[in-house]
Formats: sequence, structure tokens, C-alpha cells
Amino acid sequence: MKIFSGTASKTLAQNVAKELKLKLSEIELHIFPDGEKRIRVVDEVVDEDCVVIQSTSTDTDKNYMELLFITDALKRSGAKNVTAVIPYLGYQRQDHVFRSGEAVSLEVVIRILEAVGVDRVITVDLHSIKIPELFHIPAVHLSALSLFAENIKKMPNVVLVSPDMGGIRRIEILSKMLGGMPYAAIEKNRDLKSGIIEAQTIHGKVKEYAVIVDDMISTGSTIAVAADLLAKKGATEIVVFATHPVFSKDASMLLQKSKVKKVFVTDTIEVPKEKQFPKLEVLSVAGMIATSLSS
Ligand code: R5P
Repeated sequence: MKIFSGTASKTLAQNVAKELKLKLSEIELHIFPDGEKRIRVVDEVVDEDCVVIQSTSTDTDKNYMELLFITDALKRSGAKNVTAVIPYLGYQRQDHVFRSGEAVSLEVVIRILEAVGVDRVITVDLHSIKIPELFHIPAVHLSALSLFAENIKKMPNVVLVSPDMGGIRRIEILSKMLGGMPYAAIEKNRDLKSGIIEAQTIHGKVKEYAVIVDDMISTGSTIAVAADLLAKKGATEIVVFATHPVFSKDASMLLQKSKVKKVFVTDTIEVPKEKQFPKLEVLSVAGMIATSLSS
């Protein structure tokens, strides 16, 4: 097996390779003055099982283009097959038409990945469990929930909280993993045009120790608003577990200033230095990706 990495997931790819006792294979990346890229696979890949690890968060389009070029270079160089490990699958939130006239961006991305020759996709904590069905190639859906459960079970007398009704299934699975831990869910309304979160109520009983669990943190407002509401209802220790640190806009600042004590995320997206903050702690999905690749 040969493992390659795009520029978005270098550290995670190195850790996955290390888990598999392999070295990352080499890619030459040249950027022209106008921003276009030339990608060349340096290692010999004829008849090899090849893996490309590349997250497609910000800058989403650039990261997708890199992944596509690497896949094309591998296929042209004789790779037996290409598995794209896309720890964070960009455009996953646009998986259907919300308002008439919209594009289904995720379907477009899937069509392109398949057309360029990706044979299999491995990804982590998708926004909807139905997304793998949109692929015509095998799509392996891993979850960081077991990683979260290991940490949560060390915490005392906790209530799990979904910050929106869409996350109920996730919270039910986690509750089961933790032997039926109690959970609550917040009803949130987001204005589709402005993105502003409008109104909230909590279903379920709030405890002093509340653990909010979500698939991703983008602007951070879902978490900040949920934490405010939990604090109002009596929670004093509020902790967050979210798989993907998308961290757009001023998310880091908002989370640091929020009522949340600690924010656990994973390395599906590399958090650049300037977006790191004291309350942040990163757990690694490298082990589960390595296990999936070797099974
Ligand atoms: C929404 O349904 C997702 O599960 C996340 O809660 C959401 O994407 C987080 O977005 P933000 O951090 O911008 O509120």
C-alpha cells in the first residue's frame, strides 16, 4: 500500500502512515504564478493499492482540486486502485435541495470524484447517514463517537446534549455506547439566508454537567447559543465534543469567550496555529483510519 497526502492533511496522513508502519509517498506540487497547480507522483505505483488522504474543508475547492489531480496522476501512473480518505467531506451540508433553484453541490462533487477514478472513499462523521448512498463506489463511513465515549465515561453524572434536533440520532447512539446515559436535545432555528440562529427550547432534563455533541463546528454560533441556554437552565460545567473543527469566521474567539469549559475536536481538519485557542483539545482519528485501511 502507498499513502499520499494532499496539503490539507499532512499531519494526519503522517500519523496514519505511522500507524501502518509505512512512510508517506512523495508528490511534487508546483504552483504556477496564476495559482494553477501541477501535480506529479514521484513514487512508483504500478499495480499498487494507493491511498490519498485529503480533507476538503477551507479552502474547499482548492483542496478538492488537489485531491482530484493526485487521483488522476496515480491512475495515469498505473495504480491498481485509489482510495480517497476524505476525513471531512466538503459540501456535505448541501446534500439536497433546501430551497427551489439550488444546486446539490455534494452530488456534483461525488460525480467528479467518481469520474476521475476514485475507487473507494473513506470518510468520518457525515452530516447525514444517507450520504454514503449517494455514491456509486464503496463509501466507508467512520465515526469518532467511540473516541468521544472513551473520554465522556470519565466525566461525572453527565447529560449528553444535541445542539439541534438533527443530531438526535448521533446522541442516541452515543447514549447507548455509554450504557444509556441521559440526553437532551435543543430545538434550534437557523435562518437559511442570514445564517442567524433564531429560537431555542430544550427537550429533556439539564444537569450540572452537560456535554454537547455535534458533527462539526463552523462559525461556532450553534455551540455558543446552546451553551448560553444550558447555563440558563442550570448547567455549570459545559463541555463540547465535535468531530470537525471547520472553524470559519471568528469561531475560535467565540468558543473561547463562550460558556463552554472545553472544546474537544478531532484532527479530521488541521487547525492552523492562528485558530487554536486555550479551551481547545484535539483527539486523533488516525488510528481508526489506519484500522479501516488495513481491514
Ligand atoms: C448543523 O446541522 C450541524 O450539525 C452543526 O451544528 C452546524 O453546522 C454548526 O454550524 P455553526 O458552528 O456555524 O453554528
